[in-house]
Amino acid sequence: MSEINVSLLSSLRAQRNKAQMITDSGDKWPEYGSGVGIYEAFLGLKSGHLRRICDRVSGHQVMGLDLMGDGTVLTELNIGGAAINLIDRRSDELRKKELELGIVLIDGNILASLTWKRLKVLNKKFDLILFRPGAGIRNITDKSAIHAWILQQAWSVLGLGGTLIAQTPIESQPLLEVWASKKHDGLNASCSKQYFSPRLVIKKLDHAPNKLPLKLS
Ligand SMILES: C[S@@+](CC[C@H](N)C(=O)[O-])C[C@H]1O[C@@H](n2cnc3c(N)ncnc32)[C@H](O)[C@@H]1O
Repeated sequence: MSEINVSLLSSLRAQRNKAQMITDSGDKWPEYGSGVGIYEAFLGLKSGHLRRICDRVSGHQVMGLDLMGDGTVLTELNIGGAAINLIDRRSDELRKKELELGIVLIDGNILASLTWKRLKVLNKKFDLILFRPGAGIRNITDKSAIHAWILQQAWSVLGLGGTLIAQTPIESQPLLEVWASKKHDGLNASCSKQYFSPRLVIKKLDHAPNKLPLKLS
């Protein structure tokens, strides 16, 4: 957080309060946790793509992170990991499955540094990070710089060889397309237009920088 500038900090605060207000006012987020099929369809991925990413991981239990989701997708992939969701509304059945797989649900605001601190305390590095907020993306990220901040946080917990797949706000697409088309040491990126929301894929390679070299403002 120390590296972000004052104007981004105040935008983050304002957006975080807005997200909180939406929840507190009873105008709730659509709460559902989709499975692999919906993630792949809406992220414009071929059927079986997420499974194949998991199958390529060797030497340790595959770890996934479901951002703005309840981890249902991770249970379908039968992998461990964590999920960050504003509230914990899991059914008993989902809670039990996640416990068995070692998935930890962090009920927190993705725009709050504290939420990321709670994640980092788990000391996990993730092989697959999925960020499919659905329509929710418009309510939390109307500013490209905030979206970039979330991606920075995600990057810091992505393991070497790991893949981040994110829905992105339409406003960020032109900048992301230019950024992804350039060569960056230690990562491969692509940004493509999809039916609902553009999709960004970043793969973390050997010698990846600690900080994602991405600035959107
Ligand atoms: C439209 S649902 C999508 C859920 C899931 N990713 C899926 O694809 O089924 C949006 C989710 O974002 C979560 N959410 C909304 N605002 C959030 C915030 N500021 N921080 C963390 N999660 C948030 C909600 O709790 C809800 O589960």
